[in-house]
Amino acid sequence: MRRKLAAGNWKMNGTPAELAQLNALITAHPTPNVDVLICPPSTLVAQAADIFAAFPLAIGGQDCHTAKSGAHTGDISADMLAAAGATYVLTGHSERRTDHGETDAVIASKSTAAYDANLTAIICIGETLDEREGGTTLDVLDAQLAGSIPDTATAANTVVAYEPVWAIGTGKVPTLDQIAEVHAHIRARLTARFTDGDGFRILYGGSVKGSNAADIFAVVDVDGALVGGASLTAADFSPIITAL
Ligand code: G3H
Repeated sequence: MRRKLAAGNWKMNGTPAELAQLNALITAHPTPNVDVLICPPSTLVAQAADIFAAFPLAIGGQDCHTAKSGAHTGDISADMLAAAGATYVLTGHSERRTDHGETDAVIASKSTAAYDANLTAIICIGETLDEREGGTTLDVLDAQLAGSIPDTATAANTVVAYEPVWAIGTGKVPTLDQIAEVHAHIRARLTARFTDGDGFRILYGGSVKGSNAADIFAVVDVDGALVGGASLTAADFSPIITAL
């Protein structure tokens, strides 16, 4: 049985003061029967981990370097995230792929670095609007799955997040049939490649809100959500957790 996961990605948002409002999440979900994760900016990881150490709220990084340490100005290693109290890290988010030119090979290397630091990697994949309209969505996802997920991935150390690039921050959401088709396809690829492929959690991400979460979560093989904008406040994130 796969445990559901509600993951919030704060992206380049958040101040120490804004962490405090997450207490309302804990109050609303003191013993959630799903996993709840917040990935704040790296400046807040240690503080968030300290504040929520005693509560069922996991903290993750938004990215990590491929190396453990070294001369990489501005970067953060998976080991540093783990030492700060993180237990997850996002790898291959489309904004990293676009803004920083990250390739599938780099993302696989970052995911391996995450495993070596005992972090769970949430490996993100997704097609652009051109690719969707050009009918190549499943081919694009196949290439990302094959290239971004290391051979050492397991259901315990890896979560796959399907995020259509055109649905991120746009208010546009694929149809439930489109989500179902992609998640079934990802599941088939995982089970074909990994002996425990049926145990990997597959998240949907892209304009998830309290108002559409229940419908999306009812789709087979949707094991939770990677939420951007609606994870920034407890008021918006709480209904998504409830819908899981
Ligand atoms: O990591 C989160 C995703 O990019 C989704 O962002 O919920 O603001 O569309 P969004």
